[in-house]
Amino acid sequence: MVKKIGILTSGGDAPGMNGAVIGAIKAGIALDKEMYVVYDGYKGLIENNFKKVNASFIEDKLSSGGTVIKTARLPEFKEESVRKVAVENLKKEGIEALIVIGGDGSYMGAKKLSEMGINCVGLPGTIDNDIASSDITIGFDTALNTVVEAVDRIRDTMTSHNRCAVIEIMGNNCPDLAIYGAIACDADEVFTIDHPLTDKEALFKKMDEKKKSGQEAYIIMVAEKLLDVEALAKEISSSTLWEARHTILGHIQRGGKPTAMERVNAIRMGAYAVELLEKGIGGVCVGFENNELRHIDIYEALELPRNKHMELYELHDLVNRK
Ligand code: ADP
Ligand code: F6P
Repeated sequence: MVKKIGILTSGGDAPGMNGAVIGAIKAGIALDKEMYVVYDGYKGLIENNFKKVNASFIEDKLSSGGTVIKTARLPEFKEESVRKVAVENLKKEGIEALIVIGGDGSYMGAKKLSEMGINCVGLPGTIDNDIASSDITIGFDTALNTVVEAVDRIRDTMTSHNRCAVIEIMGNNCPDLAIYGAIACDADEVFTIDHPLTDKEALFKKMDEKKKSGQEAYIIMVAEKLLDVEALAKEISSSTLWEARHTILGHIQRGGKPTAMERVNAIRMGAYAVELLEKGIGGVCVGFENNELRHIDIYEALELPRNKHMELYELHDLVNRK
């Protein structure tokens, strides 16, 4: 039976990661495991950056954003020779299993370590919500609330000046923050890879009609990597009756206190990961399906198609048609 379990966070940080770490540590200690944190993601495995912790480790950080055990990107971890160093260091310390909190790149590292004899369980930690094996990732709910608060503020000033805002929302190649945010903020438009801007003339015509009918602000939300929001705002200013401004929300979306639901989800996932390792299960990742925890093989998880949430675009189109 596994005795020593390590925990690391890897890839981009996300609010709620601390909750997953705390959930895992507390569950592990309750099950008489020796719990270790690994600092700086996979880099810490190579650099022997381990620390044995007790149940109160970072418990005061449940309400903090970011990851207290730090995160890093280590592209060399794709090389087997580098992973061998990690396995040797873990074995020297007697750590037989790992909980890896991160995105799909981190999952791949976890799967490969499992194949090399270190049982790993992956937890979905990313604001992007781009892990198809879970309905929701650690970080998404908090980032969505941050987006909504920021866009509400932008709406205040746009309304005062009768302006249009073109706002870029993070998500890498996954536009969930943009579409969920657009619904929550009652944005006039949302453009993403699944719902691109195809007819600029029609958009400009609609915008002018709205202006003439007395609309006071026009909010356009755009998923990152789709188009140049600054250029679009300039074009709107020169081609429509609206004066437009652009905002790139950027890394503000990655920080901040995790929401209550985020904390609950993260703690549940952390504790569940320990239960799996206790049963000798590894090479898998954890996710929510209809609010129930489940685990599946990491390779299988990485093959799952992304949920595009097209029903949300249909809803958005419906409520913004007139
Ligand atoms: P995320 O986990 O958020 O998707 P990355 O794609 O940057 O972030 O991956 C995080 C880390 O996971 C990488 O820096 C690397 O250390 C490790 N990793 C990524 N892909 C692989 C792979 N194919 N094999 C082994 N490790 C990988
Ligand atoms: O994956 C999270 C994320 O914030 C993406 O939404 C964004 O594209 C990327 O990370 C930004 O990465 P970095 O922090 O390296 O600028």
